[in-house]
Amino acid sequence: MSRTTVLILAVVSAIFLFVALILVVSSAREKARRAGPSAPPSRRPGPTDEALEGPLLEKYQVAGVALTVFLAVLLPFLYLREPVRQKAAAEKELTESVRLGAATYHEFCARCHGPEAQGGTVKRYVTPGVKGAKPTDVAAPDLREIHSRHPDDDAGAVAWTAIQKGRPPTPMPTWGVRYGGPMNDQQITDLVNYLLSIQSDDKERPMLEFEAAAGRRAI
Ligand code: HEC
Repeated sequence: MSRTTVLILAVVSAIFLFVALILVVSSAREKARRAGPSAPPSRRPGPTDEALEGPLLEKYQVAGVALTVFLAVLLPFLYLREPVRQKAAAEKELTESVRLGAATYHEFCARCHGPEAQGGTVKRYVTPGVKGAKPTDVAAPDLREIHSRHPDDDAGAVAWTAIQKGRPPTPMPTWGVRYGGPMNDQQITDLVNYLLSIQSDDKERPMLEFEAAAGRRAI
């Protein structure tokens, strides 16, 4: 169910409940008016002992049993459904992470690695701190091929480290705030998840979840 549908249903049921409340209150008032003056509820005689120990007691007992049965069914149902719910929530988080990573990628990385992450050229790069260094064109690698360039390493770990620390003295900048760059762990987690989602071999790779990724050290 979409958020809009839920919102519409909520508004409609709120209006319905409000109208029902007005009708109930006004009909109760009308009834009281027609019945004429009577003692206030606190002054009226309470139920008799027979009623308290008979029908009334049974009414409360039945309500108690009904509520217990309701809870006895509801709690195991929630318990059994919980793993499914958590899995769906985690998947949603990861999809969102990939989406955010793609947005960050297009903002900061596409100018060197290309809009499709296909790789590109950094034109006339001058290595900083090297006397007499000549401007040279440097290739920025295809980021859909991290796995094939590093077959023995986990592609996610390679990307995490490359983005966090950068690759000085190459043009690849340092992005991690821990190493003096501008991005926090969440942004880099999202970037890594995006890169994992576009690896050319389409292999299923476990994505980074933020809590776990935040404690991760660059290698
Ligand atoms: C100024 C150009 C430039 C920008 C901007 C840039 N990179 Fe790079 N990146 C490079 C170059 C050049 C290399 C190759 C470094 C080397 O030779 O080891 C590289 C390497 C990498 C690698 C390692 C690839 C591998 O297989 O070893 C990753 C991952 C990467 N970049 C991700 C990113 C991400 C994500 C961003 C955006 C936040 C980004 N880069 C922004 C130029 C850039």
